[in-house]
Amino acid sequence: MKYMGSKRVMLQNGLGELLRATSKKKERLVDLFSGSASVSWFAAATLELPVIAVDLQSFAAILARSVLARTQELDPNRIEVNWLRPLAKRLARSKAWRKAQALDLSQPNAGSWAKRARQLCSDSAGSGPSWRAYGGYYFSPSQAFVLDSLRSSVPARGPERWVCTAALIMAASRCAAAPGHTAQPFGTSRSAGPYLREAWMRDPVVFIRRAVGDLSRRFARVKGSARVGDAVQTARCLRESDLVFVDPPYSGVHYSRFYHVLETLARGKCGPVGGSGRYPARDERPSSLFSQKSNALAAMELLLQRVSDVGCTAILTFPNHECSNGLSGRMVTEAAAEHFRIVARVVKTRFSTLGGNGESRKARLDSDELILLLNPK
Ligand SMILES: C[S@@+](CC[C@H](N)C(=O)[O-])C[C@H]1O[C@@H](n2cnc3c(N)ncnc32)[C@H](O)[C@@H]1O
Repeated sequence: MKYMGSKRVMLQNGLGELLRATSKKKERLVDLFSGSASVSWFAAATLELPVIAVDLQSFAAILARSVLARTQELDPNRIEVNWLRPLAKRLARSKAWRKAQALDLSQPNAGSWAKRARQLCSDSAGSGPSWRAYGGYYFSPSQAFVLDSLRSSVPARGPERWVCTAALIMAASRCAAAPGHTAQPFGTSRSAGPYLREAWMRDPVVFIRRAVGDLSRRFARVKGSARVGDAVQTARCLRESDLVFVDPPYSGVHYSRFYHVLETLARGKCGPVGGSGRYPARDERPSSLFSQKSNALAAMELLLQRVSDVGCTAILTFPNHECSNGLSGRMVTEAAAEHFRIVARVVKTRFSTLGGNGESRKARLDSDELILLLNPK
């Protein structure tokens, strides 16, 4: 899944090796900012220890849980038969679905398609949260209808529940009519319209089925867990034998502003939305001290102090330059040096500015990223 700050590539570029080597005598790996779960999934599949994933956002916990909480493959055919196949019958019974389909098939230009789609999604009562909040913006009405319909019918319990919900989240991230994150949907201008049309033509079921296949094959060597929580609070519950992975935000804009569409799917509900990005109200969007310029350094210092108080070894990654939350690689290294003996290494990476880093408006830049191994003093 495309995720800002994902360590998926870095795992092949030194981080994976370091996690393997450092975890040898450890009893758990605690991923305190688990995000898209790339590190948690890697650790769960390759290390002989339980992985505990923590993130402020529910969708991140669901992505992690769909793999960490399971020590066997799942049969994707059972999910196909019990969850995906019944969808067709439910769709056929729905008047709103038939209207959405008719609109898709009429293939008007992006501008009038969007206008009629917004009208349809604001008129029809009784539909789900993606339809109401995002239909005609991030999703075509039929995409939104499928996502809501499958969300309301995910299995009630068991590992299938998390695999199905995670598959919906992954598919929504691939289908959303937005540039990799959902801070703002594509518009309908001559330049943006083709992107909107292309995104709205994607069949979510194709992406859901693919994600179910991928997730079903993954499992943890040792059963772990995932939960929604704050890293600094969670650090109070660490154990000396833990290896802690610390990959905090580097942006001065909250992650929840960019990923509310996925959070709505994870929660299965959403209040009224507003603004160009169709954001839910502030109190529905998790906020992080690490994304507040005035608080980020203090939050980082407190976190490092707590990890060190317990005597844990940690691996910390951070861009090696000044970031929009006011932290830089140098500041983070200095804060860590108060408590740990550091072994530092720098790797090349593609870095997401989360929509601009103050110096450049480009969304992605080549950059150096620090990997710090923090040994207790
Ligand atoms: C750089 S991303 C982590 C990326 C992740 N390692 C991956 O490979 O996808 C930072 C994550 O920290 C989460 N976050 C922000 N503040 C947090 C906090 N105080 N406690 C826990 N998670 C937090 C965000 O929701 C985001 O998912």
